[in-house]
Amino acid sequence: MTLRPSGSPDEVRGTVKAWQAEGLTVGFVPTMGALHEGHLSLIRASVGECDRTVLSIYVNPTQFGRGEDLKRYPRRLEQDCRAAEQNGVDLVFCPTNEVMYPAGSTTYVSQDSLIDVLEGASRPGHFRGVLTVVCKLLSIVPADRAYFGQKDFQQTVVVGRMVKDLSLPVSVRVVPTVRDADGLALSSRNDHLDQQERHQASCLHRALTKALQLYRDGERNPLTVRAAMQGIIEAASLVRTDYIEIVDCETLEPVKEITDRAVVVLAVRIGQTRLIDNMPLVGTDPKTDEVDDT
Ligand code: PAJ
Repeated sequence: MTLRPSGSPDEVRGTVKAWQAEGLTVGFVPTMGALHEGHLSLIRASVGECDRTVLSIYVNPTQFGRGEDLKRYPRRLEQDCRAAEQNGVDLVFCPTNEVMYPAGSTTYVSQDSLIDVLEGASRPGHFRGVLTVVCKLLSIVPADRAYFGQKDFQQTVVVGRMVKDLSLPVSVRVVPTVRDADGLALSSRNDHLDQQERHQASCLHRALTKALQLYRDGERNPLTVRAAMQGIIEAASLVRTDYIEIVDCETLEPVKEITDRAVVVLAVRIGQTRLIDNMPLVGTDPKTDEVDDT
């Protein structure tokens, strides 16, 4: 039997609170559905760490800009519920737009900094939509832990900041990026690439790996690393760079000198498709590794 999704906030909140009253810990994995191995790794992390796992599936209209892919976003509820159940999810929350944005709704969650740079610069309003929906989901699903993918690095930073600033009683967990064999980060957008575009898309990971290698070899100048990455991207004829930056893992400000607080981030366009990826440098400095080994 497949899990039956619930669309009722009261039912979901009541179930989560009843579990917690029994002393069980609850993990929460918010998604927009069309589940792939990346989403499943978040589910497995939650199932591994928590007694109960709640999954939400909701394609949130407020985080899509005009001309973005809201209409063509894949919707596969039945298949998703089967995958959720097979991977140990206990409850699926699948609300309607009327539930998430009731008539007359006028309250948003926003931030003064962090949301206007990188992805936010290319997608105005995107993170206001993400923060608002995640805040509301966390209010409906009062979980002990919430799971997010490193793949959407800026999302982890802005959500972590919101949780801290609003004293939300949840612990944010970040799960490593799941990749295809050639290094391309899994994303529902990859389905939009034709064969040639898909082939060239591996340059994102090659550029990030080059950055990591340069850092491990002792390079600390962000300009040098960016130039090397740009060279790799430019060699792929169908790929256009949106941005390549090396930023601080909390402030998202470009760094002047690379340390292990830095995250290398990039966004590109391949045809009509926009792809993002990143590489955190924390824990990758060979000198630090040597200390760890002793
Ligand atoms: P969605 O794109 O469905 O992603 C749901 C979660 O899966 C996010 O935390 C995302 O970072 C993670 N994820 C996606 N691809 C991944 C990969 N290859 N490896 C690891 N994790 C991956 O992100 C959203 O939905 C929405 O913005 C949401 C948070 C649900 C708010 O609407």
